[in-house]
Amino acid sequence: MSKVDVLLGLQWGDEGKGKIVDVLAPKYDVVARFQGGPNAGHTLEFDGIKHVLHQIPSGIFREKTRNVIGNGVVLDPVIFKAEIEKLSKYNLNVKANLYISKKATLILPTHRLLDQAYEKAKGVDKIGSTLKGIGPTYQDKIGRQGLRVGDILSDRFKEKFQKLADIHFKILKDHDIQFNWDELEVQFMEAVNFLKQFNLIESEYFLNKELKEGSTILAEGAQGALLDIDFGSYPFVTSSNTVTAGACTGLGVAPRHIGEVYGIFKAYSTRVGSGPFPTELLDEQGELMRKEGNEFGSTTGRPRRCGWIDLPSLKYSIMINGVTQLLMMKADVLNIFQTIKICTKYELADGTVTEMVPYELVNEKITPIYVELKGWNTSLSEISEDSMPAELRNYIDFLEKQLGVPITLISTGPDRTQTVYRQNT
Ligand code: GDP
Ligand code: IMO
Ligand code: MG
Repeated sequence: MSKVDVLLGLQWGDEGKGKIVDVLAPKYDVVARFQGGPNAGHTLEFDGIKHVLHQIPSGIFREKTRNVIGNGVVLDPVIFKAEIEKLSKYNLNVKANLYISKKATLILPTHRLLDQAYEKAKGVDKIGSTLKGIGPTYQDKIGRQGLRVGDILSDRFKEKFQKLADIHFKILKDHDIQFNWDELEVQFMEAVNFLKQFNLIESEYFLNKELKEGSTILAEGAQGALLDIDFGSYPFVTSSNTVTAGACTGLGVAPRHIGEVYGIFKAYSTRVGSGPFPTELLDEQGELMRKEGNEFGSTTGRPRRCGWIDLPSLKYSIMINGVTQLLMMKADVLNIFQTIKICTKYELADGTVTEMVPYELVNEKITPIYVELKGWNTSLSEISEDSMPAELRNYIDFLEKQLGVPITLISTGPDRTQTVYRQNT
């Protein structure tokens, strides 16, 4: 029996998952998303064109790869339809290569409105949600009143839809949210009809059959481990399990079928939305990082908060996920810095120094303790495994030693081709 390899973000999302899934996809028969929804924005770049995917797995541009939207995903038919239509000019065989779990949960227009209402009510304590309806949809799933993709095939779908929308209207009555329901409903029903033409399947059977027949599967994570509902900086998290275990529940594959776990991280840190960020740079250096890394959200366009790499957090993510290989992204963004800082420990308010992520992250004042390394200060556009600037090699060696997991890939630009494999690790 073959294995399911998992690729996931170790930080607060936007590590470059889309690029790497696309790069690795030719090695896999199947790419499967297992959680999250259109809050994700996964960017791929090749042949001079940049694509951003929200709902569709990042293997879609590879002709021979089958792509699965798993049961753990929340699916917005309206966003899905728009995304498919955007892809139509590329002559891909999307209908044949895309499979959607009947057990994936549907995002209704009212879920998006509720997201807005809840965020507004939180005031200064808002999560900084992408407002795609993620939290309210998972709430309904766990509350056992959600609608699933398979329900759209039922004669009673409209009735079920109305029943859930009515529950939402009652809540919305207490909030000042403006909307044109007729428009939203028509748009939703059109998108639901559109969705019916795709392969709606029981994806747990599909994937386990593929495994039995020897197919290789890559599970594509969304968000990052530090946004996980259980292990992230709660409540400033998303509403799903973004960690390796989420691939088992979000796809219906047993833990013993998990193979490699690719942990992907930026050579520095970013976060979008609210919540603790110990190494955040609120100065000119942070500004430089944002500019150099083009750190603006792929889904919302919001500026991303930037800071140095944070090893206590990365070690935590590696532990929770069982990472077997590390992939370091956006090394080129650090080209401009004379000195690169690495946070190796935290100092807590009472003076304690720790390498662990404390329970009280949100209200605790954390001072990062840094080690400084000399920067490489040169372009990485021509580098190979054997011709890296000594300072970059030094940075990689330092991180590997601290993290205890090999770094097998370095990304030096957004394009597919700007990827350096490290065979000799
Ligand atoms: P994802 O959500 O993890 O797929 O990441 P995003 O697509 O939201 O954000 C990553 C951004 O960095 C995208 O704009 C990518 O095109 C870009 N990117 C990916 N790898 C690299 C890299 O090595 N260097 C640079 N400069 N940009 C990169
Ligand atoms: P990808 O897959 C970065 C953040 C939001 C907010 C919090 C909760 O592209 O890495 P939600 O909409 O889930 O209720 O928002 O999580 N967030 C992300 N940040 N990348 C993402 O996805 C994100 N998805 C959600 O900014 O802080
Ligand atoms: Mg993203």
